Amino acid sequence: MKVAVIGAAGGIGQALSLMLKNRLPGHSQLSLYDIAPMTPGVAVDLSHIPTYVDIKGFAGDDPTPALVDADVVMISAGVARKPGMDRADLFNINANIIRGITEKIARICPDACIGIITNPVNSMVPIAKAVLEANGVYQPSKLFGVTTLDVTRAKTFVGQLKLIDPTALRIKVIGGHSGVTILPVLSQLDLDFTQEEIEQLTDRIRHAGTEVVEAKAGGGSATLSMGQAAGAFCLKLVDGLLGKPDVQLCAYVDDGGQYAGFFALPVELGRSGISKILPVGELSEYEQQQKDNMLEILKKDIAHAREFMK
Ligand code: LMR
Repeated sequence: MKVAVIGAAGGIGQALSLMLKNRLPGHSQLSLYDIAPMTPGVAVDLSHIPTYVDIKGFAGDDPTPALVDADVVMISAGVARKPGMDRADLFNINANIIRGITEKIARICPDACIGIITNPVNSMVPIAKAVLEANGVYQPSKLFGVTTLDVTRAKTFVGQLKLIDPTALRIKVIGGHSGVTILPVLSQLDLDFTQEEIEQLTDRIRHAGTEVVEAKAGGGSATLSMGQAAGAFCLKLVDGLLGKPDVQLCAYVDDGGQYAGFFALPVELGRSGISKILPVGELSEYEQQQKDNMLEILKKDIAHAREFMK
C-alpha cells in the first residue's frame, strides 16, 4: 500500500504524516510531497520513528516522484483562511493548486483514491472530478472530500454536553464542509436533546473551524485536529482497500445527482474505494429543513467549480 501526502510540509500535512507513519499497516510506503524545500527533511525526521512504514520526501515543482504507484493520495496543499475570511475566499488560489495536482494524478496514478482536505472542499472536489473526467479517468468511487473533522467535532461536543465518552459515539454528518452545509444528524443518536441543545450543538459544529481560525488569530486554521481527522479517514480508506469488512465513514462524495451533485454521505469502503453509498436514515423535521435549505448553497459551490473549469 502506498499513500502520498501532497502538502506534507504544512501544518495539516505534517500532523497527517506523523499519524500515518505510526499507524499505516506494516510494509506500507508513505511518500511526502510539498513545494517547500524542507519536505525531504520532514520525511527524514519521521523516518526515525520505529515502524515498518517506509517513508520518502520530495520537494520542488513536480509531485510526480511522490505519486508513482500511489494507491491513495491525500491532498492538503493550499492556503488556509485568516480571521474574517470564509472558506470560499480561498477558492482562487486553491482551485489552481487542486487543478494542477489532479492533472498529475490523472497521468501518474489514475487508479488512486483521492482524499481532498484543501478548502473550500465543497468546490475543490468538483474541480478534481472535472479534471479527472477531462482525462477520461474519473471514478466516482475513488474521489472524496474529507469531512471527518466535522464528525470528530460532533463527537467531542456531544460528549462534552452529555458527559459521555466521545470515542464510543457514532454520528453522521452530512451535506458539505462549510457553515450551514455542515449538518450533524443528532436525532439518530440514542440520547435525549432539547431542541435548544440540538440547535446550539449544530451551530457550534458548523462554526468550529472558525472557532480555531479566530483562536489562532491570523496563524491559520485547524492543523492538528484536521491532521488527526484526515489520518483517521485515510486509515479507514486503507482498511477498505485491503478488504477489511464493514468499514464505514462519512465523506463528501459524488451523490449521482441525488442531492446537489456532491454531498457528504455515509459510505461503505471496499477494495476499490466506495463499495456502497449508505442510507442517510430518518431525519427530524429540523434536520430535513436544514438539509433542504443548504442545497442551493452547495449547488452554487459546485457550479463555481464548473465555471472555473470552463
Ligand atoms: C476546518 O474545518 O477547521 C477547516 O476546514 C479549516 C477552516 O478553514 O475552517
